[in-house]
Amino acid sequence: MATFTQPPSNFHPSVSGRDHAVIMGGSSGLGLATAQRLAASGMQVTITGRGRERLEAARASIGGDASAIELDACDAGAVRVFFENLGRFDHLVLALGSGRGFGPFATLDLGEVLGGFEAKAMPHLLCAQAALATICSDGSITFVTAVSAQMASPGTVGLAAINGALSCAVPVLAAELRPLRVNAVSPGVVATPWWDFLPADQREAAFASFAAKTPVGRVGASDDLAKAIAFLIDDSFMTGHVMVCDGGLRLAA
Ligand SMILES: NC(=O)c1ccc[n+]([C@@H]2O[C@H](COP(=O)([O-])OP(=O)(O)OC[C@H]3O[C@@H](n4cnc5c(N)ncnc54)[C@H](OP(=O)(O)O)[C@@H]3O)[C@@H](O)[C@H]2O)c1
Repeated sequence: MATFTQPPSNFHPSVSGRDHAVIMGGSSGLGLATAQRLAASGMQVTITGRGRERLEAARASIGGDASAIELDACDAGAVRVFFENLGRFDHLVLALGSGRGFGPFATLDLGEVLGGFEAKAMPHLLCAQAALATICSDGSITFVTAVSAQMASPGTVGLAAINGALSCAVPVLAAELRPLRVNAVSPGVVATPWWDFLPADQREAAFASFAAKTPVGRVGASDDLAKAIAFLIDDSFMTGHVMVCDGGLRLAA
């Protein structure tokens, strides 16, 4: 078995009798909220991400015996070694992603769309595949896609294609990998650092505009999505499902 050349001091192998969830992209936003929620319910959690300081702050906010591992989910070799070192675990949540590929189709840089596939769809599939050797067959994989794949909103064709690819993969994987359960949560607009590419005033204006369009009258909070992910992990009768959690945004004309 491969080993970490520098084993993280906060790394703990799976504890027998206690479900272990791995949240990739767990150092921020809805991945972090999911890790906090699952840990509060008594699960052992391991989070991954690229930024060391961000990871450590996230691990501290989860508390308990949570582990945080620095890992680029696009690095196939590092992902394989990560799962080999992890050993048996129960649930995988894929919460990493990027905003690349946004814009109206006529002027859309298709290189950015390809970059979006490489930053989200491909690492999600890469991590799911690499996890198969050690994930428990009665466990689950939960992808985080995006409601752009369901709502036909002009200007989001690149995001729809990237997230639609994952959404289409979910039922196929659920049929192929059974009894392992495979689901996805498809978020609407959620106030997370994902939106930090906008200056604060523009971000607030965008949230206000989305909130006005959304039937529940607000944008999402990270924990709204964490609840949906925790439900899909917990309910052993759920598989092959893409759960839209968007406050009804997809219904906006
Ligand atoms: N927020 C929204 O409105 C919204 C709406 C629809 C869908 N989504 C989707 O929800 C998911 C989570 O988004 P979020 O809003 O929680 O974003 P976020 O706050 O920016 O968090 C993204 C997380 O993914 C990690 N990450 C990104 N690329 C990575 C890589 N190559 N390897 C390892 N970790 C990586 C980030 O850590 P590092 O950068 O340190 O690696 C961070 O922990 C994304 O897939 C996004 O597309 C979000």
